[in-house]
Amino acid sequence: MKNFMIYGANGYTGELIAREASKRGMKPILAGRSQNKVEPLAKELNLIFRTFSLADKKSLEYTLKEVDFVLHCAGPFSLTSQPMVEACLRLGKHYLDITGEIAVFEAMAQRDAAAKKAGIMVMPGVGFDVVPSDCLALHLKNRLPSATVLTLAFYGLGKISHGTQATMLMNVGNGGAIRKNGEITRVPAAYKTRKINFGEFSETAVTIPWGDVSTAFYSTGIPNIEVYTVLPEQNLKLLKLSRYIGWLLASKPMQSYLQKQIPSGGANEEERAQGKTFLWGEASDASGNRVSSRIQAPEGYTLTVLTALNIVEKLLGGNFHKGFQTPAKAFGADLILEIEGVERMDD
Ligand SMILES: NC(=O)c1ccc[n+]([C@@H]2O[C@H](COP(=O)([O-])OP(=O)(O)OC[C@H]3O[C@@H](n4cnc5c(N)ncnc54)[C@H](OP(=O)(O)O)[C@@H]3O)[C@@H](O)[C@H]2O)c1
Repeated sequence: MKNFMIYGANGYTGELIAREASKRGMKPILAGRSQNKVEPLAKELNLIFRTFSLADKKSLEYTLKEVDFVLHCAGPFSLTSQPMVEACLRLGKHYLDITGEIAVFEAMAQRDAAAKKAGIMVMPGVGFDVVPSDCLALHLKNRLPSATVLTLAFYGLGKISHGTQATMLMNVGNGGAIRKNGEITRVPAAYKTRKINFGEFSETAVTIPWGDVSTAFYSTGIPNIEVYTVLPEQNLKLLKLSRYIGWLLASKPMQSYLQKQIPSGGANEEERAQGKTFLWGEASDASGNRVSSRIQAPEGYTLTVLTALNIVEKLLGGNFHKGFQTPAKAFGADLILEIEGVERMDD
């Protein structure tokens, strides 16, 4: 029987996934670098656990040999993904993660040929970033095959977890990013503002360097991509400030100080149950044709659990595509409709 490992199983998101996997009768190996955190969870869920640092190649390979694939949940992934994916390539094991970092998607795309040679699927971004937006992007491309410009936006009504805040903070000095004429192009943080009609309400949103700037290009071939989100006033101020003091925010002492201020954990069960996410996307072509669609889905971390395990179930059933893959490229634009509580509307 096929099995998998969750690395970073004790993190906020890893634990949510481990608990739901166990509820569904799956028996993943729970792994992470801290025995005092992974062991109690594994014991509670009656699952096997392994603890090792990602620098410990021997232990990493030992555990990977016991499974068919990994669902990597330990981020920031720009610090953790490389040793894991390289081990997967060496041993012929599929790789999934829940990153949203453009640099990580791009690094994984570079390993496409190696993944095909190893006979494995390398699919980063199986969470909220990027499953729903990637499916929306491909849906829009299917509606308007001549599209040359793609604009995506999301609004997540919910609390942001420790790891997401840590990852965002780590990248705050890097400014923004869009895709222009097929190339990822650096732009100032929050450099464009736009009013978005999410259906039930309209909100002002700003550009952010979201994962789809990388992935939607591989899923749709559309060469111009921008992603917007709605930010609380305080976060928006910090983002705009980062244009001027990004170097300071990115400096080691400042990062070390700010990282320590982030509270652990994330939204509780009740908050997650009440949360909701809204996505909107528009594709247009050189002749002025335009289509737009919207998606409503559960709260972001709940959705991450559901989309990640949906893809895990496919792999457990032997359903995979060799090489670097985005969720929609491998499983189609309707993949997101397989998730309970998701609705898609065409304008
Ligand atoms: N794509 C999405 O929609 C989505 C959704 C949720 C989360 N995420 C991303 O997933 C990551 C985790 O988020 P979270 O809120 O679950 O984080 P968290 O609660 O802070 O947990 C982070 C986990 O990663 C482990 N870890 C961190 N650095 C590590 C390293 N260098 N080597 C080995 N393990 C390491 C931690 O281990 P210790 O406890 O031992 O420190 C912990 O298990 C973040 O990058 C976040 O942005 C993405």
